[in-house]
Amino acid sequence: MCGIAGYIGKNEASEFLMDALKRLEYRGYDSAGVAVLDKNGEINCVKSVGKINALEKKLKEKNLSGRSGIAHTRWATHGHPSEKNAHPHCDCEGDIYIAHNGIIENYKALKSKLIQAGHKFKSETDTEVITHLIESHFQGNLEQAVLNALKHTEGAYAIAVISKNDPGKIIIAKKSSPLIIGIGENEYFIASDPSATVGYTDKVIYLDDGELGIITKDGYKIISIIDSNEIHKDHCKVDLDVSEVQKGGYDHFLLKEIFEGPEVVKNSIRGRIIPDEGLVKLGGLDVLDQKKLRNINRIIIIACGTASYAGLVGEYMLEEYAGIPVEVELGSEFRYRKPIIDERTAVMAVSQSGETADTLASLLEAKRKGALTLGIVNVVGSAIARETDAGVYNHAGSEISVASTKAFISQMTVFALLTVYFGRTRNMSLTMGKRITEEIQKIPSLIEKVLESDGQIKILAKKYSGYKNFLFLGRKYNYPIAKEGALKLKEIAYYIHAEGYAGGEMKHGPIAMIDENFPCFFIVPNDSVYEKMWSNMEEVKARNGKIIAIATEGNEDIKDLADDVIYVPKTLEMLTPILTAIPLHLFAAYVGIELGCDIDQPRNLAKSVTVE
Ligand code: G6P
Repeated sequence: MCGIAGYIGKNEASEFLMDALKRLEYRGYDSAGVAVLDKNGEINCVKSVGKINALEKKLKEKNLSGRSGIAHTRWATHGHPSEKNAHPHCDCEGDIYIAHNGIIENYKALKSKLIQAGHKFKSETDTEVITHLIESHFQGNLEQAVLNALKHTEGAYAIAVISKNDPGKIIIAKKSSPLIIGIGENEYFIASDPSATVGYTDKVIYLDDGELGIITKDGYKIISIIDSNEIHKDHCKVDLDVSEVQKGGYDHFLLKEIFEGPEVVKNSIRGRIIPDEGLVKLGGLDVLDQKKLRNINRIIIIACGTASYAGLVGEYMLEEYAGIPVEVELGSEFRYRKPIIDERTAVMAVSQSGETADTLASLLEAKRKGALTLGIVNVVGSAIARETDAGVYNHAGSEISVASTKAFISQMTVFALLTVYFGRTRNMSLTMGKRITEEIQKIPSLIEKVLESDGQIKILAKKYSGYKNFLFLGRKYNYPIAKEGALKLKEIAYYIHAEGYAGGEMKHGPIAMIDENFPCFFIVPNDSVYEKMWSNMEEVKARNGKIIAIATEGNEDIKDLADDVIYVPKTLEMLTPILTAIPLHLFAAYVGIELGCDIDQPRNLAKSVTVE
């Protein structure tokens, strides 16, 4: 949520800064700004409401020249999107500029004190208090002023600060929100995440909480915010490819990422299956004491949004085949409950970004209470990945589109692997282990078959895009997919309302809404609850509801009830959600396009939700 960038070195700062903002745009896109220190020692700042291309247009008119600067793309928390509220923010005199990601929780109290002391505020943001605090502590040395200012703030921040009165350096600091330094040849890059530095450098330092960096064109120094002691940190090599952050021939990242499904599953399972032994090898978990893993008698999955639906699928898989009791909790709920945890409980965080604030806070709470903490995370080196005792990386590649699709497919795949991993050290037989692992390996080619329905789904999207409400129904393994189908439609085609329900719950409420204007998606592969779902379809039909069914290839009977059918190939019941999710992702994408929505960056959303 909010992206920040900085540059200091031999080249024009605005080149990297604008590139970085475009790459970080998924983090927030209601306004943006850039501030550059020019060769005369003045800081020039340009801001714009809306997407980065609006800022780019403005920059063409006002060329910002200079070799150090900072930039920001905003997702509004305090104050509506406007130029006035857009970052970078400056102090009273326009000497100090700051880009900030996070929330300063005690900003109200700080603001009134600063106003009393004569500071003039120009925005409604919480961020501006940091600028004035730095101003009030500034005595010629920027890092000292920032250190002193941060001692007064409560909340979360990743900041980048420049000052014309202490030029030639950028001061950065981190608490809770992510921040990295990219190391180039006589140039340094600052960004919220490494996707921004791809193509510039692959050498990256992840700042940890409580660290402050002083970056000049000749080097960097990292010190502790608490005691100013120097901290020596090694850089890591980031394995990202420029093609991962480009659209690769597609008009939208979302479509590119949905179509990457087969590759994503291949990457998630690569080298992890031992077919003859019906076993799964997960290096990230093998590092743990195996006795500890065998001792786990309860798993609590914590996640937000789409990742929580992958968690629900995981719950069903792990309980049915590994025999471990599982609960799924939303991060935003778990962190404020009084969860009952003991040393045999594993708390497993599922997160594409590895940054989601509620998931991270829940994980830390579980750690404090003595749980074994595990993770299923896509972004290597992210906060959640670093905080867990052990975990499994998705290896799904960069996901740029705000709505998570390929990471969801990969998360369910990893849960299938985990089911065999845990199951085989418990009651799962060799035969069952082999059966599941054989079937997992077929998933990439089965997804390819599902993707062949692309043309048909496009036509259906046209046919149904005029409806204002949709109901999605599924049962057992496909209940979470009903939730996911509804979530995707509301977030991507954002003028449509949709509800995802368990089939059996329909008669407890949603049935009241059904009429000819309320189409229903039924996710009904041939599985153990097929007959039950059939009854639900009859009930909808009896009320003139329109039915779009996602069914197993070869099921001709379904046409008696469904107005439209999208077929998916046959697979094991526990793996059906990996296939049935894909037509729903495509449907949401194409309806969004029909309605003229920005399907990569839907209204009001942001990808990495780093605030509560
Ligand atoms: C945001 C995104 C969703 C995502 C959720 C959790 O709301 O828009 O697509 O599912 O965050 O994100 P995470 O990175 O933790 O998986």
